[in-house]
Amino acid sequence: MHISTYLSRSLYILLCVAVPLYLGIRGSDSSFGTDFLFSSLSERAKALHVALTSPLAAHSAPNHEAPFQASVEPENPVRAPGEGRGKRYPSVLAGLAHCINSFEQYPFLAEQVLQRKYARYSKQTPAQMAISKKLGYPAHFEKARGGIEANAQFSEKIAQIAREKYDIGPLSLNDNEDAEFGVIDSAFSLLSRDWSTQGAKERQAVFPPILSALGQHFGGTGGGSKVLVPGSGMGRLASDLADIGYNVTANELDYGSILAYHLLTSHTSSLHQHTFQPFVTKWTHQADPSSRYSAITVPDHWPNKTVKLVEGDFLEMFPSDGEFDAVVTLFFIDISKSVIDFLSNIHRLLKPGGIWINLGPLKWGTHTALQLSAEEVLQLADLLGFDVDHTSRKSIDSLYVEQPETLLKFTYGECLLFPCEE
Ligand SMILES: C[S@@+](CC[C@H](N)C(=O)[O-])C[C@H]1O[C@@H](n2cnc3c(N)ncnc32)[C@H](O)[C@@H]1O
Repeated sequence: MHISTYLSRSLYILLCVAVPLYLGIRGSDSSFGTDFLFSSLSERAKALHVALTSPLAAHSAPNHEAPFQASVEPENPVRAPGEGRGKRYPSVLAGLAHCINSFEQYPFLAEQVLQRKYARYSKQTPAQMAISKKLGYPAHFEKARGGIEANAQFSEKIAQIAREKYDIGPLSLNDNEDAEFGVIDSAFSLLSRDWSTQGAKERQAVFPPILSALGQHFGGTGGGSKVLVPGSGMGRLASDLADIGYNVTANELDYGSILAYHLLTSHTSSLHQHTFQPFVTKWTHQADPSSRYSAITVPDHWPNKTVKLVEGDFLEMFPSDGEFDAVVTLFFIDISKSVIDFLSNIHRLLKPGGIWINLGPLKWGTHTALQLSAEEVLQLADLLGFDVDHTSRKSIDSLYVEQPETLLKFTYGECLLFPCEE
């Protein structure tokens, strides 16, 4: 069996698996229970404003009529990942409901982020405030609100499409404590990386080595070979592989990515049709504040509609052994609870003589059973029956979902290539 394995040993920030930031919105059930009825964003904003400022509200609310008011910085409820999530729904739908709910609640979740910034700003002394005003700082709050409004329309569209696609009635998702800012934040960052011109630099660092390794194995056009891309995220790599001629199956677990991907593949009629500002609430590590208002347009390229997307857990969705000629994992294996399970499953799914190509870091989370070094991952591959050629290694530096012009860059260096012959 042939394997090419690319591995990285360095740090990386993984927005799509970052510990979720829970920003529970509290308000009266009756207000939230009817918020779906309001068709326009401003009506919904007003309704939630009332909910957030009602006597029951635990958090201060944005005031949409006036400039920012000084407010007490809200305490965020701290919850463990998954806690309180989708409790009202059957487990299969929990992730979907959670994500649709989060996309719908985006304007209010984002306003909360802004309110916390404003609370810190407004706690300054009068002298500090006067200097801050000379810096033009207050204008950022209003400007950011403009970006949030634009993002909210995009986010709302994703949610609407999801409700149609999955036949979800409006009443079933009004669990206001279940919305999570991190869902949209990740989706926006990943969309930008995969489907905008601004993301091309990051893609160029990691896609060509994968395409080239596959090309060496199958020839330039792929010849219709069956390729599985588990943890496909927003799906650009899968789409690019299909463009070449591979028969591609993408697999993704996270509805934050899946729902945005549906918008691109099924509700997009022109390139660069959708505009959003993914960095509008991110104000750190900037040389120039204008970068936080960068407008991103997607898609910069047509998603290949021959890609088959399998929604669900990679460990559960593919019962047949030996189904694929190749499995390609990009920024994926270190997200597993059990790397043994992931690699075993990859091995099981490959046809005899198939190839596994992996590129990505080993930024194991605290939830993982084993936190292996690159050498140990290769030993594990050997143990599981892969035939690893240890003689050839390639180092690849890459970034992942970085904000443009950020002063802080995490480079994932030493991505290693291990071609293998049987
Ligand atoms: C770090 S992201 C990488 C996404 C994509 N490969 C890329 O390069 O942008 C890892 C992805 O794997 C997905 N994922 C994690 N565990 C999974 C599983 N068991 N089955 C399918 N997808 C999974 C996550 O939802 C996430 O989208």
